[in-house]
Amino acid sequence: MSHGCENLNRQNTESDWPVIDKKPYFESDSIRLYFAESMEVLGSMQTVESSKFDAIITDPPYCSGADTKSGRDADPASKYCHGGNTCGRPSFAGDHRDSRSFEFWATMWLALARRHCKRSSYCLTFIDWRNLPLMVNIIQAAGFVHKGVCVWDKGRAARAPHKGYFRHQAEYIPWGTNGPVPKLSDRGPFDGVYQHPIRQADKHHITGKPTPLMRDLVKAAPIGGLIFDPFAGSGSTGVAAAIERRRAVLIEQSEEYCEIAAKRLDAAIRGEIMDRKT
Ligand SMILES: C[S@@+](CC[C@H](N)C(=O)[O-])C[C@H]1O[C@@H](n2cnc3c(N)ncnc32)[C@H](O)[C@@H]1O
Repeated sequence: MSHGCENLNRQNTESDWPVIDKKPYFESDSIRLYFAESMEVLGSMQTVESSKFDAIITDPPYCSGADTKSGRDADPASKYCHGGNTCGRPSFAGDHRDSRSFEFWATMWLALARRHCKRSSYCLTFIDWRNLPLMVNIIQAAGFVHKGVCVWDKGRAARAPHKGYFRHQAEYIPWGTNGPVPKLSDRGPFDGVYQHPIRQADKHHITGKPTPLMRDLVKAAPIGGLIFDPFAGSGSTGVAAAIERRRAVLIEQSEEYCEIAAKRLDAAIRGEIMDRKT
């Protein structure tokens, strides 16, 4: 798929994009989605200063959702969907690692990705309560300066297993910067807590993130700036980037999810996504 009608009020030249030795699964003036394995892409991707990223905003497999090895090895559909009911959404691979291998693996891809980030660019990575401490370590081990933890409050609809339990109604977005935090004149300060309920009509992945939440987060990058999401799933980061006039490079290893993402990206670029906040 390819499009040519977007206007980001900036010059889009080839040198503004990282060189990736693969044909995009979906391509427009503002978004490039690759059907690929992230580490493979990161191992050979080339950037010059103008094609480096303004922000990494990503939602990797949490490798969480259970307290035992056999629980962690289970299909994400049973870990993350109540009663294993995915509501027709495909499952995904890569969610099986134990704590040590998760920390090692995530440090590798994030350190590789940081080499393609501008100075003072942002790194925002989703995680749940179980692996939050690991993700804070990972951000620092990859070379970013850890600056804080944003909270996504999903609301009280979040499931609690029984009475006497504090609801797991939040997920977390630890963040850091590639060097010093920028002092911006055109945007921010950004909120530290985001309240966005999950709406089924806006959920296209079994762990999909709400479009309004992603629209808030992509504003860390400047208009026309380049965002990297190496775990794109149903393309939520790219959809938000397209709506908010940012650009994005997305990677997703599941072809089923690339297809879902491509359709959403196409709709967002055409202005047809209904989750706009006015
Ligand atoms: C947590 S989901 C992202 C969901 C996304 N935020 C959304 O709203 O749709 C993580 C995604 O990463 C993909 N993935 C896992 N390991 C990967 C890898 N090594 N390279 C590329 N994609 C990978 C999975 O297929 C899955 O779709």
